Amino acid sequence: MGFFKWVCLILLLYLLDATLILSDSNDQLPVIPFGFLEFAKKPEVLNWMTDIRRKIHENPELGYEEFKTSELIREKLDKLGISYKYPVAVTGVIGFIGTGHPPFVAIRADMDALAMQEKVEWEHKSKVPGKMHACGHDAHVAMLLGAAKILKEHEKEIKGTVVLVFQPAEEGGAGAKKVLDAGALENVSAIFGLHIDPSLPIGEVGSRSGPFLAGSGFFEAVISGKGGHAAIPQHTIDPILAASNVIVSLQHLVSREADPLDSQVVTVAKFQGGGAFNVIPDSVTIGGTFRAFSKESFMQLRQRIEQVITGQAAVQRCNATISFLDKQKPFFPPTVNDGDLHKHFQKVAGDLLGISKVTGMPPSMGSEDFAFYQESLPGYFFMLGMKDASVEKTVSVHSPYFKFNEDALPYGAALHASLAASYLLKLQQNVPVVEGNHHDEL
Ligand SMILES: *[C@@H]1O[C@H](CO)[C@@H](O)[C@H](O)[C@H]1NC(C)=O
Ligand SMILES: *[C@@H]1O[C@H](CO)[C@@H](O)[C@H](O)[C@H]1NC(C)=O
Repeated sequence: MGFFKWVCLILLLYLLDATLILSDSNDQLPVIPFGFLEFAKKPEVLNWMTDIRRKIHENPELGYEEFKTSELIREKLDKLGISYKYPVAVTGVIGFIGTGHPPFVAIRADMDALAMQEKVEWEHKSKVPGKMHACGHDAHVAMLLGAAKILKEHEKEIKGTVVLVFQPAEEGGAGAKKVLDAGALENVSAIFGLHIDPSLPIGEVGSRSGPFLAGSGFFEAVISGKGGHAAIPQHTIDPILAASNVIVSLQHLVSREADPLDSQVVTVAKFQGGGAFNVIPDSVTIGGTFRAFSKESFMQLRQRIEQVITGQAAVQRCNATISFLDKQKPFFPPTVNDGDLHKHFQKVAGDLLGISKVTGMPPSMGSEDFAFYQESLPGYFFMLGMKDASVEKTVSVHSPYFKFNEDALPYGAALHASLAASYLLKLQQNVPVVEGNHHDEL
């Protein structure tokens, strides 16, 4: 390139920069998130995230046991010069970037692995038998650290504080609830979270406003009768027949009692009882899950499941005891996306990826403990594409053959960073923060 071209280029960049700084005060694209995705795609940043992800992948830890993962996160935050609180909810880490003052906006990653054996043969396969990151939480952590790196570079431009939430125990342990109960998100105005999606093309995101994922709960019931000889049923009270009728009756809850336009599920997935061909057992244990998109429908199902099990067992002279396993498997509320945050997401993701890459998604019966945050503050959850166009068949999450596509890391990092930073800019434009007001520090 000749000298003149250099001068022109520098002049152009200077003008561009000046426009961006000027546009800070109106509704144009501000300094943030300009260049976030390009930054995250730089080989040194991508490799840094990839390394972190692989380290965590090799050493998967289950809910509330993420000690090594948490240590790695703190080590990276220390190196970046980012302050944090630890421990929060056993292994959780809460980081802070920006002014240290309000407003606060949170971005969240979950850290736990699944109790299953990895069957993918590759260099960074899980080193722990029976444990695997098959749900991409290793990548979620790496992406949130990537976002931290981006935001730290732009710390002076952050109009408030970005709160990094590294949360334990998403897979059934309700780690999000523990983080909230610890008061870690007091005074936070909004929270964003993402999940990688193997069926969505890389560079795309999907979500929706309102109910997105179902609320989910579990139940278990012991139906007891009186065991005896299978050939002399008149001297027994048969719990197998009673349990069978219970299961059939449970299927009428959704088909006959729920609004057909309000999606719900009741599934009995467990049936245990008896062990011989000629013995009627004393009792049968059944168990399953139920799902709904509103708390009202969910509580209604829960109440009716209990009534149907006891009532139908009594028809066959059996007794039933029911547990909703609140301690071991706390119920997850429905994941409901805030309408204003949806608009914010569409704008930010559209600017970053191109509006054609931001797709609407139908609700799904899956569930996510991110929903706990959304019960306390406005929250937004979205799916991040990772599908490699050259790979024919998609392997779903929770499969022992699941493999995360590391090319998706920069997208997650840049989205996290720009959603949070531009949200704070937007808040500043709408509601001026009073200077010198240090009363509600986090
Ligand atoms: C059910 O419970 C009642 C009251 O405790 C008891 O009298 C009865 O024997 C029980 N029936 C069975 C089949 O366990
Ligand atoms: C939130 O703000 C209140 C009121 O300003 C303050 O007392 C409290 O300590 C803050 N919470 C946290 C977690 O910092």
